[in-house]
Amino acid sequence: MTLVLVGPMGAGKTTVATLLAQAAGQRVRDTDADVEAAAGRSVSDIFVDSGEQAFRALEREAVAAALAEHEGPLSLGGGAVLDPATRELLAGEQHTVVFLRVGLSEAVKRVGLGVGRPLLLGNVRARIKALLDERTPVYESVADLVVDTDGRTPDEVAAEIRKAL
Ligand code: S3P
Repeated sequence: MTLVLVGPMGAGKTTVATLLAQAAGQRVRDTDADVEAAAGRSVSDIFVDSGEQAFRALEREAVAAALAEHEGPLSLGGGAVLDPATRELLAGEQHTVVFLRVGLSEAVKRVGLGVGRPLLLGNVRARIKALLDERTPVYESVADLVVDTDGRTPDEVAAEIRKAL
């Protein structure tokens, strides 16, 4: 079974996936890291040099490969579920999809200045609000489980996911 964490930037996907993997003695995987390894460039550099579309194409391949190969916690980039093909893959029975929900103020606090997150350049709060408004229904539509992360530590979030599985 692959446990897939989805949700916006600042939800804690990477941190919680790492905790879950440690607790289960499994390896963790992260599609942003996979894209960076495949491209030999950072996510920010891909956005700046080649554009968001190029990043999304690499991300789609990274998600498909990880879903096919990986057993254990998998953290998806915040925008990965915007791709219809990815949503279809997530609908498969073999994956449990957890949406880590985060409110606007908490997300803004967690991403700080948005360093390394090209979609947040400019006004971080306004950009996060727009992304939350647009994407929350998509995260809800793919999720088997929704876990609130506001005011909670990654350990508390990971514990709730383990309890629910
Ligand atoms: C993005 C989220 C980022 C990264 C890229 C685009 C998005 O991942 O994939 O900057 O569209 O929400 P995290 O959610 O892990 O920060």
